[in-house]
Amino acid sequence: MAGALRTLDGLDYADRTVLLRSDFNVPLNRDGDRVTVADDQRIRAALPTISRLREKGARVVILAHLGRPKGQPSDELSLRPVAGRLSELIEAPMLMAPAVSGPAAQAVVAQLGPGDVALLENVRFDPRETSKDPVERQSLAREWAELGDVYVGDGFGVVHRAQASVTELATDLPSAAGLLVEREVAVFDKILSNPLRPFTVVLGGAKVADKLPVVANLLPKVDRIVIGGGMCFTFLAAQGHAVGSSLVESEQVDAVRSAMAQAEEQGVELLLPTDVVIAQKISAEAPTEVVAVADGIPDGWMGLDIGPATSAAFAKAVEESATVAWNGPMGVFELTPFAAGTRTVAEALTRVEGTSVVGGGDSAAAIHKLGIDASKITHISTGGGASLELLEGKHLPGLAVLEGPQS
Ligand code: 3PG
Repeated sequence: MAGALRTLDGLDYADRTVLLRSDFNVPLNRDGDRVTVADDQRIRAALPTISRLREKGARVVILAHLGRPKGQPSDELSLRPVAGRLSELIEAPMLMAPAVSGPAAQAVVAQLGPGDVALLENVRFDPRETSKDPVERQSLAREWAELGDVYVGDGFGVVHRAQASVTELATDLPSAAGLLVEREVAVFDKILSNPLRPFTVVLGGAKVADKLPVVANLLPKVDRIVIGGGMCFTFLAAQGHAVGSSLVESEQVDAVRSAMAQAEEQGVELLLPTDVVIAQKISAEAPTEVVAVADGIPDGWMGLDIGPATSAAFAKAVEESATVAWNGPMGVFELTPFAAGTRTVAEALTRVEGTSVVGGGDSAAAIHKLGIDASKITHISTGGGASLELLEGKHLPGLAVLEGPQS
């Protein structure tokens, strides 16, 4: 990580209009015309910053995205349900601008008094937000800059995106990181630069290609890498095991072999499954069996969870560690017959005497869905892609603009 983040302590925001970028990209429930927020973790995570700003009399104008509307306004991806939930959480009425920028947004901002909050419509309804052309992003950022005095970047889940509301706007106004971004960065910084040992990273999820850069960056820093989830079958195939019709990224097999060789050279223990739960299709009703990896997965069957012996070994590795970073479920946890591996590892995480960090996205969703006691985990990140890219060692654009002296 490069320079230190500028924080709220160094920003003059009292009694001013603050443009706050948050990440409210949350799942929604649709019941006919009634649309509600299905998981409000990301909204809750934004509350400390919003409260801090309000306490000091700031007028808070929030910018956020929902989904990927590709520059087209759509009712389905309106932030209105988010505004409703946020209003309940802050226990105050709030204004929802029907537009991303322009006169309708200006009119809403003009109505704000000290401590009031407004949410602009989904910033991705304007194609300039995600444009590849920095000039277009700049033109949108300038329209927003007219609405406020200072900018606070608190959308941790989106700091890996070079987008108008994340990067350009942060350089147009005096700016600083919000409390969520500050905390997220501090946690990842600590585990990446000064972890208590032993340090174990647990990787799962479907995509090997996404996780290999994480393995490459972490090999010099960790003591142990534990691999489960869909991605483990490319590792097992690379070792010559029969994996039936399990998910294998054949174009990654060579890269996986070289990662395994590097792990051995660097003395990093690599733990792979020794048994797996298999079925003939991805269905909660499909008959399942447990097979030893050494015996091979029969043709027509696929691995959908780590097996009980593997779950126990992974849980032991996690519990014995002083620092654990976990990203990606161990199996298809959304279906009960394939949830046990993810549950066992997640429960082990709650017993770590040290620092336990869960990357966002599917792993955070698993913690909530499986009813794991999140208070016993040091930190559950709100960033999926963002946390993965931090673990890859990348310098993220939405953080770079909040670092160093104010320009
Ligand atoms: C996320 O959900 O990970 C963030 O909100 C970023 O969304 P994106 O992948 O659509 O940019």
